[in-house]
Amino acid sequence: MSTAAIVLCAGAGTRMKSEKPKVAHEVLGRPLAQWVVAAARAAGADPVVSVVGHGAEQVRPLVADTVVVEQPEQRGTADAVRCAREALAGFDGSVLVLTGDSPLITGKTLRMLADARVREGAACAVLTMQMADPFGYGRIVRGADAGAGASGLGEVHRIVEQKDATAEEAAICECNSGFYCFDAAGLFDALEQVGCENAAGEYYLTDVLEILRKAGERVIAVQASDAQECAGVNSRVQLAEATRVMQQRINRAHMEAGVTMMAPEMVWIGPDVIIEPDVELLPMTFLEGNTRVARNTVIGPNSRLTDTQVGAGCTVDETVAVEARIDDGATCGPRAYLRPGAHLMEGAKAGTHVEIKKSTIGPGSKVPHLSYIGDTTMGAGVNIGAGSITCNYDGVSKHATVIGDDVFVGSDTMMVAPVEIGSGAVVGAGSVITKDVPADSLAVARARERVIDDWAKKHAKH
Ligand code: UD1
Ligand code: CA
Repeated sequence: MSTAAIVLCAGAGTRMKSEKPKVAHEVLGRPLAQWVVAAARAAGADPVVSVVGHGAEQVRPLVADTVVVEQPEQRGTADAVRCAREALAGFDGSVLVLTGDSPLITGKTLRMLADARVREGAACAVLTMQMADPFGYGRIVRGADAGAGASGLGEVHRIVEQKDATAEEAAICECNSGFYCFDAAGLFDALEQVGCENAAGEYYLTDVLEILRKAGERVIAVQASDAQECAGVNSRVQLAEATRVMQQRINRAHMEAGVTMMAPEMVWIGPDVIIEPDVELLPMTFLEGNTRVARNTVIGPNSRLTDTQVGAGCTVDETVAVEARIDDGATCGPRAYLRPGAHLMEGAKAGTHVEIKKSTIGPGSKVPHLSYIGDTTMGAGVNIGAGSITCNYDGVSKHATVIGDDVFVGSDTMMVAPVEIGSGAVVGAGSVITKDVPADSLAVARARERVIDDWAKKHAKH
């Protein structure tokens, strides 16, 4: 049977105290809404419809790979689902309805929910969880009477929201996860019957369950084996909790696949990062975006790599790298900053307090100490002396520096671009190089040293 999904992303999320819509807040670099969309796809849902509303212009691009519909006014979760009616016109099968603010849900659990609905011939299956502290969640009210299923629990009668719960209902620990699977037939007609006579004055999606049941349909509850998967994010505290759970989940998977972390609670890895076995990640390491790390590389401590490719057998110590490439056997840091377009080729080095931007450092070439290299093409076997800098910017535009193979640049050299230093050339320390240096030559561009004998002795103060 085909499965569609509706992801509810239109709410304001006032409890976040933010100018940003709630579902745009991120867990390990991925917005909440995208985590839920990814789980829907992993469950095999197609199409996926996202309902946007509050801050639509900010949320729309985050779910651009789904069918996006707008909820003009945020009048509640039932009203939000109603907005997907046209997008799913003619669709026949299972419709997963997913709250967009619960990023820990997995495709496996959603698949299990959808399968249970079909197997039990129910019009609706709601995923529920047992919470030690159920405050804030809708409570599952079951009939104690006849109809108890195989679980021994009574049938689901209705869901009551926190604001509307009596003391007795508020004591129920079985909660609504906000994840449901409906039979497409009848869902939208039932939604039309939902009213807004409740404490919040909203159209509650949860009321649909009672409407369906009263119409003689079957409504079942499927208990989640892992309540954590259902945790909603309504506040910054819950956002931090979700991040911690996701961090543990991701790190565990990498460790099981052969990655070493001495303190996994101090390593943060984004969902799209790829790491080969025998990589070691030291504390305070952040791997973000489309970063990839090949085997036998050590990263950290104190390193942040974003959209960066790292080869095998590299050492990346106290380094910040953004859109950079570090080839096999290269070393970085401590305290290196590789900016977009920095490329360390095999065995190259970017050492201490070194910044590299939009430059290729050829195989085995070394920039060991206190340098800035920008807009530069460097050959193989080059040594750049401490404190040397490419002056790539004249205040108006950027210019290129070209350094041939086996060049030796003495310490504290300024290479004023555009300039080229030919292969095998040597540049004397403290030079300001403004003209091209031919291959195999020596260039010295600095004031000559003058020595006055006994000068100091004569001027000595006694
Ligand atoms: C909702 C459920 C509650 C459940 C909890 C699980 C209802 C009435 N209550 O409560 O039973 O325990 O989720 O986390 O459904 N949204 C819209 N349009 C709206 C209102 C909300 O798209 O007009 C979206 C929000 O962006 C959010 C989701 O629906 O992603 C849930 O809304 P929220 O206000 O967070 O509901 P809860 O109070 O958490
Ligand atoms: Ca919520």
